[in-house]
Order: sequence, then structure tokens, then C-alpha cells
Amino acid sequence: MAVTTQEQLHARIAELEIQLAQRTRDAAEQDEQLQRYAADLRETFKEERARGQELRRSYMLTVRALASAVEARDAYTGRHAERVAAYGLKIAAAAGMCLGDEPQIEFGFLLHDAGKVAVPDAILFKSGPLTPAERAIVEQHPVTGSEIVRDIDFLGAARDVIRSHHERWDGAGYPDGLAGTDIPLSARVFAVADTLDALTTDRPYRRASSFADARVMIVRDSGTHFDPEVIDAFESLPDLVLERIRQEIG
Ligand SMILES: [Fe+2]
Repeated sequence: MAVTTQEQLHARIAELEIQLAQRTRDAAEQDEQLQRYAADLRETFKEERARGQELRRSYMLTVRALASAVEARDAYTGRHAERVAAYGLKIAAAAGMCLGDEPQIEFGFLLHDAGKVAVPDAILFKSGPLTPAERAIVEQHPVTGSEIVRDIDFLGAARDVIRSHHERWDGAGYPDGLAGTDIPLSARVFAVADTLDALTTDRPYRRASSFADARVMIVRDSGTHFDPEVIDAFESLPDLVLERIRQEIG
């Protein structure tokens, strides 16, 4: 009886050893399969990232081409959109705007005046004062711009800048007469950058102001034209940072 039990025990052990070996093989196979999945996933991720980068590059080139087309009409402003975008990004970062990797805000800065394509030259370049009817046409450009880009999904938040870049903190802007924080932050930041570039660029009717003078004029309009918090962020940027943008972009 004892012999039988021992034999049974050996047989059971042998059986367990076979099972164990099988399970070890299964585990190794599963491990290998998991490694293959992981490698496939890494490869797919890499490919997706490369595709994403390529897509972003195409978006950026398309937006820059559009912005250049808008600017090509106005010899005086030169590379205004690019400078404004660069100033705007600096002010946005100083204002703590979370821009992350999303380029939409920059797209908005670059395309802010897309709607000016619909303003006739005779009005856009008129040297004298505009009649009320002409002013109404000019003030329509944020609406026209937002209609032009309405269905371009990849522009996302850029559309806020295009629609609201002429709104004022005190509600006296256009086209919607928004006030305070009802104006998208990106547009409040843009308003400061746009004015800075306008003041520091030569125009047919006046010479460019220095950055120091432009800063004084802009800060004076804190709480009326501009969001005071954005002005605080703007004031924290040294002139040197802004002057470097001017020199680099021209
Ligand atoms: Fe504009």
C-alpha cells in the first residue's frame, strides 16, 4: 500500500512537473507576445507622432501663407502679423496663459485681419478720415474674418482672436461690444500686442515711437482699452525682449 502511495506520489510529481513546464512555456510565449505588442504600439505611436508633426507643419505653413496673402496688400505694415504673433505669445506666456503645444492661439494672432480681404483698397488705404459708412465697412472685418474661417476646425480658438481682436475692456470696441472677461483672453492679449506693433512701426502720417514711449501709452489705457491683468503681464516683459523680436522679424 505504501509502495503504491509512493508511486502515485511520483506520478503526481511528474505530472505536476509536466504542467509546470507547460505553464512556463505558456508564460514565456505570452511574455513574447506582450513584448511584440509593446514594440508594435511604440512603432504606431512614433508613426502617429511623426504624422501629427507633419500635419502641424502643414497647418502652420498654410496659416502663414494666408497671413502673407492678407498682408501683401499693405506695404506699410510689413511683417506685422508675424511680429504681433511673437509679441502676443510673449505676453500670453507672461499672463500665464496655458498655451501648451497647441498652436491655435498663434494661428489666431497671424490671421487676425483675414477679414480685411473684403475691405476695398479705396477705404483701407484712404489717407483722410473715414466717413461713417466707410468706418462701418472697416469695422465689419472681424465678422468677415470669422465667417471665412468658421468651418476650419483646426483653427479652434484662433477664431476667437479673429472675431474679438477689436473689442475693448470697457465695452466700447467692436464688433460685438463685449466687455471685461466676456472678451476671450487670447483677444485681450492680442489687443496689447497689436497696439504695441502699431505704435512702434513707421506710418505714412507719423514716425514710430520707441518701445519705452509705446509702453507708457499702452499702460495709460489699462482698464479702458486693455485688461489690467494683461497689462501687468506686459509690464513684466523687459523692453529688450520686445526689441529683439522687432530686430529679428524686421
Ligand atoms: Fe483688425
